Amino acid sequence: MNISIKDKNDIEKLRNAGQLAANVLNMITEHVKPGISTGKLDDICHDFIVNEQKAIPANIGYNGYEKTSCISVNQVICHGIPNQNKILKDNDIVNIDVTVLKDDWYGDTSKMFLVGKTQPHNEKLVTVTQECLYKAIEIAKPGITLGDIGHVIQTHAEKNHYSVVEDYCGHGIGKVYHEDPQVLHFGKPGTGIELVEGMCFTIEPMINQGTKYTKILSDGWTVETKDGRNSAQWEHTIAITSNGCDVLTKRDEERFL
Ligand code: MF3
Ligand code: CO
Ligand code: CO
Repeated sequence: MNISIKDKNDIEKLRNAGQLAANVLNMITEHVKPGISTGKLDDICHDFIVNEQKAIPANIGYNGYEKTSCISVNQVICHGIPNQNKILKDNDIVNIDVTVLKDDWYGDTSKMFLVGKTQPHNEKLVTVTQECLYKAIEIAKPGITLGDIGHVIQTHAEKNHYSVVEDYCGHGIGKVYHEDPQVLHFGKPGTGIELVEGMCFTIEPMINQGTKYTKILSDGWTVETKDGRNSAQWEHTIAITSNGCDVLTKRDEERFL
């Protein structure tokens, strides 16, 4: 384990990249509605990052991935590949995950969208998953452990009769896209690495209506729930401060964080 500690200057660079990623999610929001394809949404994100933000879509070329975003619909947990033939419809729940690279620093964030008319069970899954992320952010500060973070997420998910995906996790981030530590979204209080000021990592819980078990489709990327029931995910990049944390990918509607 080799966890890099960022100084104030580093964190401002990370925030700059993080805010660009957050702005992509803001920008795409008005486009996410019934009838649009996930491929088209990805094209819009790509052109915005390259032409407006003058930044680099960091997913392109990452382990051979070819798209700007991951767009994960319904039973897709993560790493859904945008596709011109995948048309959004009423009651779809959609995660859009974007990472931008700006001045050699990465910003990684994702949010859920409710498409058209949404059934209450889907809305509840999306809301509880966001609460899991927010509860983790609320407790993050020097002296607590990664196990505490995992525990607060797992407890809230299971209280609502959902399961936590164990096969994918959050990660340290900086001038490297995925670096130490691994940030599990389940765990026991007081276990694992102790947080210290200057650590920067993502928290990105994937919460399922049914089983926690996953499968990868034959495209080598798309991760789905084993039972076909729906999954939700929200992701922020945070920096640990002297007495809490700073949400580097915070959007306008999240000023309370
Ligand atoms: N953004 C994802 C994460 O949260 C990783 C996507 S990798 C890709 O860590 F290659 F699928 F884009
Ligand atoms: Co991430
Ligand atoms: Co991401």
